Amino acid sequence: MGVLLAPSLLAADHARFGEQAQAALATGEHWLHVDVMDGRFVPNLTFGAEVVRALKPLCPEAVFDVHLMVVEPERYIEPFVAAGAHAITVHQEATPHLQRTLAAIREAGCLAGVALNPATPPETLRYVLGDLDLVLVMTVNPGFGGQAFLPSAARKVGELAQLRTEAGASFKISVDGSVNVKTAAGLARDGADVLVAGSAIFNHPEGVAAGVAALREVLG
Ligand code: DX5
Ligand code: ZN
Repeated sequence: MGVLLAPSLLAADHARFGEQAQAALATGEHWLHVDVMDGRFVPNLTFGAEVVRALKPLCPEAVFDVHLMVVEPERYIEPFVAAGAHAITVHQEATPHLQRTLAAIREAGCLAGVALNPATPPETLRYVLGDLDLVLVMTVNPGFGGQAFLPSAARKVGELAQLRTEAGASFKISVDGSVNVKTAAGLARDGADVLVAGSAIFNHPEGVAAGVAALREVLG
């Protein structure tokens, strides 16, 4: 299977989420990345589970990929599952009981993901490889869209692909932060399965469809 694109609603017009999500899905993509920020784990605030609940009937085919940039993420599993999330990703740095949190996400019927801040090594996941469906490699410090790409963090994509092979694991590798026409192809070559893109899609001067098409073109 080819690389999946996950358009990130953070960069969409917040007054027109429904319309913008539908425009992204009309290109043939299926994932929608939902960035939840609490003003504590990251210095910014976004939105909660109600956004997923409201988009669900408008985008019945969408895979809602929820990225929790919050402290105590275990408190928010249930509301996001109830709202219709398909994948829930928590930060390695935000929960001391990572295995328990991942198990709770799976038990609730969702794909369980862990996000790694740029400074967090992939080795921290060694003992939860069997509990994981998704690893989200942050190539910017989480909190804002439109930041500069950190090549040092992107090196983890290849390292995780190797770790996955060595361990016989099957998690998807996702990359989040400054995915654009310059960075996308290299990330896919290194082993990324999912590319999250905010600005490159929703801030494309010719619109959402052109943003997706430009990324698809470099991905070949
Ligand atoms: C950043 C978020 C990203 C954000 C990426 O904290 O996790 O998902 O939308 O934005 P771009 O693609 O603009 O770097
Ligand atoms: Zn994100």
